[in-house]
Amino acid sequence: MSKSRSRKVLPRVPEGEAIEDHEDLSMEELNKEFKKRMREYKKFAEFIYKDLKLKDQSRVLEIGPGPAWISIVLVKKNPTIKLIGLEISKDMIRIAKQNVNDHNLVNNIEFVYGNAQNMSMFEDQSFDAVISHDSLHHWENPIQVFNEIARILKRNSVLCIGDGRRDIRVGAKLIFQIAKLFISKQMSYYWNTSIMASYTPSEIKEMLDKTNLKNKYEIKSDIFDIMIHNNKSN
Ligand SMILES: C[S@@+](CC[C@H](N)C(=O)[O-])C[C@H]1O[C@@H](n2cnc3c(N)ncnc32)[C@H](O)[C@@H]1O
Repeated sequence: MSKSRSRKVLPRVPEGEAIEDHEDLSMEELNKEFKKRMREYKKFAEFIYKDLKLKDQSRVLEIGPGPAWISIVLVKKNPTIKLIGLEISKDMIRIAKQNVNDHNLVNNIEFVYGNAQNMSMFEDQSFDAVISHDSLHHWENPIQVFNEIARILKRNSVLCIGDGRRDIRVGAKLIFQIAKLFISKQMSYYWNTSIMASYTPSEIKEMLDKTNLKNKYEIKSDIFDIMIHNNKSN
């Protein structure tokens, strides 16, 4: 057995779905903390444009946009796209709308309140792209969400879902410990819980194989993150 296979991974500890106003950390404070991740958001957007070749005029769904920094970065890169953010937290939608308004993008980005497990408000094959960043570990039933994504995506569309991974190694853990020195105590707590709620690449493969996205995706991972994206050659 290889070394990585024998590595012990702690059991998953689920997190709740909606991120809402909290007495320890308000949405306004959380918004500022999220904004510090702009470099990561830009990298994610760059991957969607360059590697996955998002086309002009695309209708894009972002699942769990939170404060919508990724939506804003994407639309700023290409103002011809129309973006819909599906968000389960009303408090997050309030903050996201403020951010979109501050960036004068209200004509490009809108929000729908709802749970990605049931996207009956969207028609079959109605999106050119579905994207999601750091939200998958919150979903109560990822298999149901993946099947909904398969239903609403058009043929030859873009899929890009990024999240953390629970099976991070010692080196990555050390980098996390150092990074935590630069964020608030509460944010650092959330960071830990989100890692513990996330999946390993093999758990994600196992789930995806049970859905209608089977054979239409690739799973890419590095020391911190996992990315599910559609395989353009398929
Ligand atoms: C950790 S935040 C990430 C926000 C943003 N994508 C980012 O990377 O900055 C996860 C977001 O997903 C939302 N969310 C969780 N489960 C969801 C679901 N089932 N459907 C829609 N949104 C969901 C949460 O309310 C939260 O805003």
